[in-house]
Amino acid sequence: MTFSPELEAKFEKLLKSYPPGRQRSAVVPMLLYAQDELGSVTGELVEEVARRTGITPLEVNEVVSYYSMLSRQPRGKYHIQICTNISCLLTGGEELWEHACRKLGIGNKEVTPDGQFSLEEVECIGACSWAPALQVNYEFHHHMTPEKLDRLIDNLRKAV
Ligand code: FES
Repeated sequence: MTFSPELEAKFEKLLKSYPPGRQRSAVVPMLLYAQDELGSVTGELVEEVARRTGITPLEVNEVVSYYSMLSRQPRGKYHIQICTNISCLLTGGEELWEHACRKLGIGNKEVTPDGQFSLEEVECIGACSWAPALQVNYEFHHHMTPEKLDRLIDNLRKAV
């Protein structure tokens, strides 16, 4: 399987950072980096990561099934994760979630037809003190309101 030179460099650095026989520790970051480049975790990627880390494809598949941040479904260029756990729920997280679904015209784990946005309702993302919170790719947005979400999405659309 062929990756970009940048991703190959990340893989090499990761695999070297663990002692011999411990390359399995690189599985999660390798999958995350590759998912960023490919848009999803494919079967071919699972095979490749298994080969490079010396574990079985079944073990890599178990990791993919466990971690919700790893996805076998293609995501949008901007993956919006909205927390509806207790702190966010109490401060408008559910309204925010419903507003996002209406604005983008998609539901949980769906992608807009142009491939630009995907939505996911998630458990606590560790930003309870700034609830309601959401994440776009790796970037956090705090104290969100439907109006702030509209501005955020409109600005991302302009950046496309
Ligand atoms: S409950 Fe939403 S960030 Fe923790």
